[in-house]
Amino acid sequence: MPLTEAAMTKSQLKHGDCLERMKEIPDGSIDLTVTSPPYDNLRSYNGNNEQWGEHVWKAVLENLYRVTADGGVVVWVVGDATIKGSETGTSFKQALWAMECGFNLHDTMIYEKAQSCFGSNKCYLQSFEYMFIFSKGTPKSINFIRDRANVRGGVTESTAKSGMDKHGKSGERVLKTAPVFGKRKNVWKYGVGGGKTGHPAVFPEMLAHDHITSWSNEGDTVFDPFMGSGTTGKMALLANRKFIGIEMDDGYFDIAKERILNC
Ligand SMILES: C[S@@+](CC[C@H](N)C(=O)[O-])C[C@H]1O[C@@H](n2cnc3c(N)ncnc32)[C@H](O)[C@@H]1O
Repeated sequence: MPLTEAAMTKSQLKHGDCLERMKEIPDGSIDLTVTSPPYDNLRSYNGNNEQWGEHVWKAVLENLYRVTADGGVVVWVVGDATIKGSETGTSFKQALWAMECGFNLHDTMIYEKAQSCFGSNKCYLQSFEYMFIFSKGTPKSINFIRDRANVRGGVTESTAKSGMDKHGKSGERVLKTAPVFGKRKNVWKYGVGGGKTGHPAVFPEMLAHDHITSWSNEGDTVFDPFMGSGTTGKMALLANRKFIGIEMDDGYFDIAKERILNC
C-alpha cells in the first residue's frame, strides 16, 4: 500500500533516544502527549530498557513540561512492577515529580483491562493501569465523551428553575428532559492492545483515540516520546491531528512508521 502524502506531511517520526531528539522540539509547541513509558524493568524492549530509571523519566517529564503548550495535556499511562512482594510505587513517584515540574495533576484515570494480564498469587487479579492526566494550567481543550447511558435519560420532568427563596418557597418550575447520555466516568475499560503489531506492550487503539479526542482539537499537534508501535500516531492522524513520535528501537521504529504512514 503506498504511503499517503497526507500522513507524511502531518507526521514527524524521529528515530533515537527521546531525551536527545526532544531537543529539536520547540518550547510550548505540543498540544497533547499520549504516551506510555517503560514500566520499571517489566520488559527489556530488545535490551533498550537497561538504561531506564529515575534519571531518565525525571528528565523526560521535565522536557515534556518545556515542550507542552499552555493549557496542553500529557496523558501518562503507567503501571508498577512488583519486586520482593511490594509494588515499586514508581507510578506515584512519576506523578508527584510531574507536579514538581509544574504540571497540574488534572485527573487520575484508570485503564481497566478487559483481560487480567499478570500479578502475584498473593494479590487480587491485577487488572488496571494508571492514566495520569497532567496539564500545564487548565486544559485548553476538553471534549468530554458522552456515552454513559443516563438512568433517567429521555425522561421529561418538572424541575425547579432555581432553589427555594428565603421564605422556603420553591422557585419557578420548568420542564426539562434529561439527556440520554451523560459524561463518561474516569475508569475506561478496553481489551489489551497488540494483535499482530509485533510490539509487546501496545496501547488499545481506542484508548489512544479517546484521549486524543478528549484533550485536543483537529489540527493540534500530538506527541509520543515512547512511540513503540505507533498507536498514538496512527490514531492522531486518523483524528486529523498532526503527530510527532520518537522511538529508539530500530524494529519498533519501522513498525510504527509502517502503521502511521499507511493509516
Ligand atoms: C510501553 S512501550 C510504548 C508502546 C506504545 N504505546 C504502543 O502503543 O506501541 C515503550 C517504548 O519506549 C521505547 N523507549 C524506551 N526508552 C526510550 C527512550 N529513551 N527514547 C525513545 N524510546 C524509548 C521502548 O523501545 C518501547 O517501544
